Amino acid sequence: MDSTFNLLIEDYIAHHIGISANFLPTNLAVSLKENLIQLFNTEKLKAAKIGNIELLHQDKLIRNDLIYWLDRTHENKSENDFLDLIDAFVLFLNSTCYTGITSVEFHYTLYPTGSFYRKHKDQFQNNDSRQFSMILYLNEDWKIGDGGELCIYQNNMTQKITPTNAKAVFFKSNDLAHEVLETNVPRMSITGWLKRDK
Ligand code: OGA
Ligand code: NI
Repeated sequence: MDSTFNLLIEDYIAHHIGISANFLPTNLAVSLKENLIQLFNTEKLKAAKIGNIELLHQDKLIRNDLIYWLDRTHENKSENDFLDLIDAFVLFLNSTCYTGITSVEFHYTLYPTGSFYRKHKDQFQNNDSRQFSMILYLNEDWKIGDGGELCIYQNNMTQKITPTNAKAVFFKSNDLAHEVLETNVPRMSITGWLKRDK
């Protein structure tokens, strides 16, 4: 895996956004997607919030995705395999780049047809522990016209990233403004942050 990790980090260093087309092993991507569909079917997914302050009313104008936090206490094999993979990545990142990441948090994300996440940055206003954002896509047969591209805004330029299966995207959380365009099919992913606790 080290060469995959290395390529993602080198791409990040060169472009401020690291993209790796096949970061997730195929079997893992499939089982995570199946888990996510099951969580949706059993109504375990919850509307995502904006910021870390409990909002009484979800602001449907900013985002309308559904989420479920991964946790080792679920004792779910693919969740644990995924978290093992991320732990290995963090170990590699910390040892090669001295990033000092101390914890991670990841959630499954489902964008139902017609949903989006307007332009934003990932660090909270009152807490800067999120250092890096990482998104992994689970749509097996995404095609042009399905929408839901990730747009990253950098130096007056917009980069559109297609949410294709097993791809990882990696960037600094306080750095890049980004947006998820409206999706025309249910869009599935895992989203998370590598954190440095102060
Ligand atoms: C987020 C986010 C991007 C994506 O959840 O903060 O920006 O492509 N997600 O899902
Ligand atoms: Ni974001």
